[in-house]
Amino acid sequence: MNIAIFGATGQVGTVMRAILEERNFPVDSIRYFASPKSAGKVLPWKGYEISVEDAASGNYSGIDIALFSAGATASKELAPKVAAQGAIVIDNSSAWRMDPEVPLVVPEVNGHALAHMRKGIIANPNCTTIVTMSALKALDSVGSLKKLVVSTYQAVSGAGLAGVNELANQLSDKEGQLIWLAYDGRSVDFGKPSAFVGPIAANVLPIAGTLVDEETNEEHKFRDESRKILELPNLEVSVTCVRVPVFTGHSVSIYAELENDVSTAEATAAISKAPGVKVVDVPTPLDSAGRDYCLVGRIRKDPGSRSAISLFVTGDNLRKGAALNAIQIAESFVSS
Ligand SMILES: NC(=O)c1ccc[n+]([C@@H]2O[C@H](COP(=O)([O-])OP(=O)(O)OC[C@H]3O[C@@H](n4cnc5c(N)ncnc54)[C@H](OP(=O)(O)O)[C@@H]3O)[C@@H](O)[C@H]2O)c1
Repeated sequence: MNIAIFGATGQVGTVMRAILEERNFPVDSIRYFASPKSAGKVLPWKGYEISVEDAASGNYSGIDIALFSAGATASKELAPKVAAQGAIVIDNSSAWRMDPEVPLVVPEVNGHALAHMRKGIIANPNCTTIVTMSALKALDSVGSLKKLVVSTYQAVSGAGLAGVNELANQLSDKEGQLIWLAYDGRSVDFGKPSAFVGPIAANVLPIAGTLVDEETNEEHKFRDESRKILELPNLEVSVTCVRVPVFTGHSVSIYAELENDVSTAEATAAISKAPGVKVVDVPTPLDSAGRDYCLVGRIRKDPGSRSAISLFVTGDNLRKGAALNAIQIAESFVSS
């Protein structure tokens, strides 16, 4: 297959390049695209050097699959142009996810939706949503989901390289000393925040994304996308998205109200069998980073409700939350 990666210089693009190689994806040719500022930069592919092209160049002929991770603005503008030249576009941004003519896919949960691609574009869900979907689908199968109450603990890499750099810069002072080790009661100057609403080092920010009404866009994404992927348009979803000082790995605490009474053992058995999931005692983002599967634990019956199960999920936002899911979608076209 002739592959193109749009956003090849970014975090997700970098993980895409690594995963294509790891999984031995059948690549006949590969092209890298990014913003004009990266045009001409050289990136590796299996021992060769590939020159990055300006994504706006307009030369998209011969591409079979275009993996997009270049942000929503670039996707809105470029994805239809690339699809018009015959490529299947798999887009990581929020640009196309809620378009009724664009499938929003987690292959192990709703791979059948790929049959309804009408624009040549497939959307990869939001990274926080993706990591919860297989476990929630399993719970739905045994107990029928009625309502979710969710709190997220989202890593800074979910906000792009800018988020990673902001935490890294705030962690140490100019002498390279850890700020919190130096902290002795004086006020710490973390500098003006730009990627987040306040200092993220040694802190927790109960606004991830940007406010669109009383909620943030991240909260809207979790609700809307969960309903679309699980095919439960009336699922009640209450969600608070929180940014935490973790580099990689989004975690989600979930209270799931079910139509049917399900025991802890039944819920655990169903989730253990879910594809892409590993049940562990204490799921942490550090343990999930670099892994293809999501970790699920703290599965328990909620004592306040006969028919509710609580659980904690964590997954690598750059792998299953983005690059891996996109490549799994691409693999379904290889096998068909
Ligand atoms: N980070 C995550 O956990 C995650 C998870 C799921 C989805 N996503 C989505 O994936 C996308 C990329 O995220 P990221 O974390 O990889 O961000 P990032 O590290 O900041 O990288 C952004 C990439 O987009 C490219 N780009 C920016 N503007 C462009 C333009 N106008 N035309 C072409 N390319 C452009 C950049 O190229 P230059 O290097 O030339 O600037 C870079 O390659 C975003 O849409 C994000 O919402 C991210």
